[in-house]
Amino acid sequence: MHQSKIAGIGMYVPNHVYTNSDLTRFMETSDEWIRERTGIQERRFADRYGETTTTMAVEAAKAAMERAGTTPQDIDFIVFATLSPDYYFPGCGVLLQREMGMREVGALDVRNQCSGFVYALSVADQFIKTGMYKNILVVGSEKHSFAMDFETRSRNVSVIFGDGAGAVVLQPTEERDSGILSTHLHSDGSDAELLAMYYPGAHANKWLDHPAPFPDQELGGLFLTAEQLESGAALPYMDGPAVFKKAIVKFPEVIKEALATNGLSEKAIDLLVPHQANLRISQYVQKLLGLSDDQVFNNIQKYGNTTAASIPIALCEAWEAGKIEPGDLVCLAAFGSGFTWASALIRW
Ligand code: UT7
Repeated sequence: MHQSKIAGIGMYVPNHVYTNSDLTRFMETSDEWIRERTGIQERRFADRYGETTTTMAVEAAKAAMERAGTTPQDIDFIVFATLSPDYYFPGCGVLLQREMGMREVGALDVRNQCSGFVYALSVADQFIKTGMYKNILVVGSEKHSFAMDFETRSRNVSVIFGDGAGAVVLQPTEERDSGILSTHLHSDGSDAELLAMYYPGAHANKWLDHPAPFPDQELGGLFLTAEQLESGAALPYMDGPAVFKKAIVKFPEVIKEALATNGLSEKAIDLLVPHQANLRISQYVQKLLGLSDDQVFNNIQKYGNTTAASIPIALCEAWEAGKIEPGDLVCLAAFGSGFTWASALIRW
């Protein structure tokens, strides 16, 4: 069985920078509140018409493939993680395949929100291990800005999220104790509605707490009236404090699980790259695990929370900044909507 390694990594963030102060033009919030509660200073928002989740993914993928020395023709499988796809269906995987002129390879879409990239990486890792594929493109990309509400009623959600994309090319390696050592995936759906976007969805009428617009109709129901739309029924919902409380338990748990599986301790971690949910969450986890500042990488200050894209963007920036050397032990960890949580331990 082969181990898999990250052969190339790339990222893309849109040019438009929105500082916290810029957001005060749209809603009642302040730079002070956002910095204190989240650590975020600014985020990028995609061009409203020119950029999509797929176009950003293409840019990140090009960089990752160039660094891996591969061309689109070499890619034999795509795993695409996003919660903000270009279309409700089909998923972004096929759009990426088309945009990059790839062969008719398989394209799998992963919907695990903030844990999406680690889930995607784990899926790709299994395909490499079995020898089925040799060059897998794993992508996390999000265009949150298109579905966010920039009014005060949604400020707890809309000040946090940003747009961007990250990608890696996964290949087999012959080296022992190298590449992805293990991945760990978890879920608990009992609180699925605490961080969710209910519409469009087959169960939306229940969660939107309103009858279908045409109650006598036996079929159909994927409609919102103008009033329902106006009232914010199609917007993302988050019970922030509840998510926070769960996150600070599950992040350390899944990191410890990865270390224990490999017979390693916290001291062995050269770099922890946590999903960039909230700087306070990362700092809490760091403290709990007794990690030094040098052992943890955060860039939420610049990009906000980019959900499935946050880990590959952070990993890419850390690598570009020379913070990851060959042989380093890198731990990826994520928690988010579902709830789902996951980790990956990598010998770089
Ligand atoms: O990545 C996926 C997973 N997501 C997360 O991990 C998010 C986890 N949760 C969080 O990061 C935090 O809960 C938030 C940053 C979302 C919110 O921070 P909080 O300290 O938990 O605030 P809160 O929701 O308890 O709200 C406290 C107060 C409220 O006002 P009152 O009721 O005390 O008067 C909110 O209305 O802060 C108010 N508030 C704001 N004020 C200014 C909420 N959002 C804002 C805002 N600006 N943007």
